[in-house]
Amino acid sequence: MPLRWRLALLFTLGAAILIGGVALLFRQQLAAGMNSSLDDSLRARADAQVARLASSAPPPPAPSREHERAETPDTGSDDVTQVLSTSGQVLENSGDSRGPLAGGTRLRDAAKGSEQFTAVIEGQRYRMLGVPARNGDRTVVVVVGASTQIVEATQARTGKIFLTAGPPAAALVGFGAYLLAGAALRPVERLRRRLADISEHDIDARLRVPGTRDEIATLATTMNAVLDRLARALARERGFVADAGHELRTPLTTLKAELELAQQPGRSRQALASAVDAAAQDTDRLIRLAEDLLLLARADEGHAFLRPRPMAPHDVLAAAVRSASARAAAHRVTLRLSGEEHLRLTADPDRLRQAVDNLLDNALRYSPPGGLVEIGLGHRGRHRRAVVVIEVRDHGPGFPPEFLPVAFERFRRADTARSRADGGTGLGLAIVRSIAHAHGGRAVADNPPGGGARVRLELPTTPAQDGPAHGE
Ligand SMILES: Nc1ncnc2c1ncn2[C@@H]1O[C@H](COP(=O)(O)OP(=O)(O)O)[C@@H](O)[C@H]1O
Ligand SMILES: [Mg+2]
Repeated sequence: MPLRWRLALLFTLGAAILIGGVALLFRQQLAAGMNSSLDDSLRARADAQVARLASSAPPPPAPSREHERAETPDTGSDDVTQVLSTSGQVLENSGDSRGPLAGGTRLRDAAKGSEQFTAVIEGQRYRMLGVPARNGDRTVVVVVGASTQIVEATQARTGKIFLTAGPPAAALVGFGAYLLAGAALRPVERLRRRLADISEHDIDARLRVPGTRDEIATLATTMNAVLDRLARALARERGFVADAGHELRTPLTTLKAELELAQQPGRSRQALASAVDAAAQDTDRLIRLAEDLLLLARADEGHAFLRPRPMAPHDVLAAAVRSASARAAAHRVTLRLSGEEHLRLTADPDRLRQAVDNLLDNALRYSPPGGLVEIGLGHRGRHRRAVVVIEVRDHGPGFPPEFLPVAFERFRRADTARSRADGGTGLGLAIVRSIAHAHGGRAVADNPPGGGARVRLELPTTPAQDGPAHGE
């Protein structure tokens, strides 16, 4: 059911309950008030009779049939008054002749003190009051009564008024709620329609924020912020795909050219062999690129691509240094590993190795012949905030200062031509950062005093429970 209808029904129901409750209370209070004023007038009439009897001569003991009974003064046609002897004999009677209005225990109680009761006389309900009185030297009982007809009629009338006016009033409240809810929800519906119209092709489209400074405006602002983030992510993704396509095209084009050249008739065996060799190198590069792209795509999924376990980072560094040593020797570069061997860490050793390999690859590439590459291992902080710091530093030209802020972005290279010639794709540092993030850590690059480039990898000793601390 639409929210509008639900609100309208809720308000109708609430109004009906409220009106019903008020009606009941009103009726009850009205009856109580009227009855109490009836009681007051009964009391006054009884007091008047008591006073009259006390001052007058005793009435004849047994009124004879021939004698008209003494009429008592009366205030209204519906009122009844009787003076009874304690034995139940009617001594005085107002109006038409009727039997005693009280008898038995009720009469005895009334002779002792005042007694209130109701009675039905000729089909009409009466409120009655019996009080003792002295007439001469004997005790008599004065019984006065008043019809409750007016009270009942008034009660019935108010009931009828509420019954006829209540339901339309409740319905009116419901209708008002329906209209109000409609007016309040209209901007929401507008937002929904606009949002439904936005597709992936107009990623710059935004919702119009109403100037009302209310919840609707907040909702629109929040939605726009979400759209901003989605648009940024989409743009990044598209850029990534375009860059990847571009990177793939270069080795594929040369591969094709080499194959076409090899195909030409009359090629020597040696020329063929070198063409195949070149093709194999290009294929290697393509495989590396594909692997890097795959890794980055997996890293975007968060923790899933990690298999963390307790490990010794020093072992990983030592292994990486060992396998880079041949290339270092060829470049006449010295690798020096130092640091805290005992450090332990929960991390994925394979991914960590990959990150260190990428850093060593860069350091070797940018180190001058005879240079020194220092690999350091240390820690910072304590307990839950302890981080292991892995550092790779060379003494080459260092990062171009304007390049430092974007060094970790995908496909970024300070010197594209040279880097590509060296086989670089600009994904090395991006992978380092992705691996650091997936571990809940981070990667920082700088040019330390004394020259050269330095990249630090900071990994928490116990990885965060709630996923990587991504902040791209
Ligand atoms: N040790 C370093 N010294 C100087 N520049 C570096 C160093 N490491 C990386 N860079 C710069 O950062 C760029 C990005 O590095 P990287 O992501 O590893 O890509 P690639 O190695 O494929 O070029 C490099 O192209 C280079 O310009
Ligand atoms: Mg690299």
